[in-house]
Amino acid sequence: MLAIEIDKLVKQYKNGVRALDELSLKVSCGEIFSLLGPNGAGKSSLINILTTFYNPTSGNITMLGKDLCKNPEWIRTQIACVAQRVSIDEHLSLMENMIFQSRLYKVDNTTAKKRINTLIDSFELSQYLRHPVASYSGGIKRRLDIAMNMVSYPQILFLDEPTVGMDISSRKAMWEIMRKVRDDFKTTIFLTTHYLEEADQLSDTICIMKEGHELAQGMPGSLRQYTRQNILHIGFSDTEKAKDCAEALAKIHMLPSMSIRENSIFADAVDGRKTFEDVNKWLLEKNVPFEAIEIVQPSLEDVFLKVTGTERR
Ligand SMILES: Nc1ncnc2c1ncn2[C@@H]1O[C@H](COP(=O)(O)OP(=O)(O)O)[C@@H](O)[C@H]1O
Ligand SMILES: [Mg+2]
Repeated sequence: MLAIEIDKLVKQYKNGVRALDELSLKVSCGEIFSLLGPNGAGKSSLINILTTFYNPTSGNITMLGKDLCKNPEWIRTQIACVAQRVSIDEHLSLMENMIFQSRLYKVDNTTAKKRINTLIDSFELSQYLRHPVASYSGGIKRRLDIAMNMVSYPQILFLDEPTVGMDISSRKAMWEIMRKVRDDFKTTIFLTTHYLEEADQLSDTICIMKEGHELAQGMPGSLRQYTRQNILHIGFSDTEKAKDCAEALAKIHMLPSMSIRENSIFADAVDGRKTFEDVNKWLLEKNVPFEAIEIVQPSLEDVFLKVTGTERR
């Protein structure tokens, strides 16, 4: 069954900005779905509509089998949303925060107690019970925030850039929590991110969007062939040198696809190490004045270009 089905969704704000422009996508039940896009792509606008804060301008949204615009109250009882700002009350204890949230969702006391204990266990929060919430690190506050939002046992959990600004180890801890939410609680997770690695490592499905529109939606494998591809980077002291070298390389067909950005050539390194060695050897033999050669991971921009099939200018 589909958790969410969006068809040609448009959101135009009063100031004329068209944040969503005929966006369509599908989210299956029980998966981690990542909406990947740069700042300003329209990710938060979409989350705000899906969580019933904003009305769409046009288009259709079916959530858990029902029309979102016709059943907003019912939808609200089925979902939870972890906002970018942590919603914990630091004057309350961890337990009080959890209980408060369960009352908001009208979960009866006995059920709430059971769930809270399960969540504290699952999210490994018991060691923090005795400490004041204000003393928690950012990462633990986030964890508690998610645990609180899980008290209603939502069918879908929305997270808007849940790891933005975190260091890599906190980010990895967050990914573990999100996998737990999916595996232990069978909750569908819909998250937004502008980190390529996050979408790649964490998601069952990725949808790449730009300027209010989906570019591609895929399962591991189809999109992963783009996101995991090695890129060969050759650096020069100026753009002219990069262009000259690219022209010479194009003549001998050593690299199948090349593009120039600033003072560098970027190319697919299908067979990473071998491509690197061959090109390195050729550069040295031809006395090409390059400054650096390395294999790098693709950037979000590289993936966009691949997906849209346009050349980098
Ligand atoms: N409430 C609003 N009123 C007018 N324009 C908005 C509003 N919210 C967002 N926008 C604009 O819509 C576009 C998409 O923004 P947003 O959905 O926040 O993107 P993202 O979350 O991907 O960074 C941006 O151009 C932004 O300036
Ligand atoms: Mg945003």
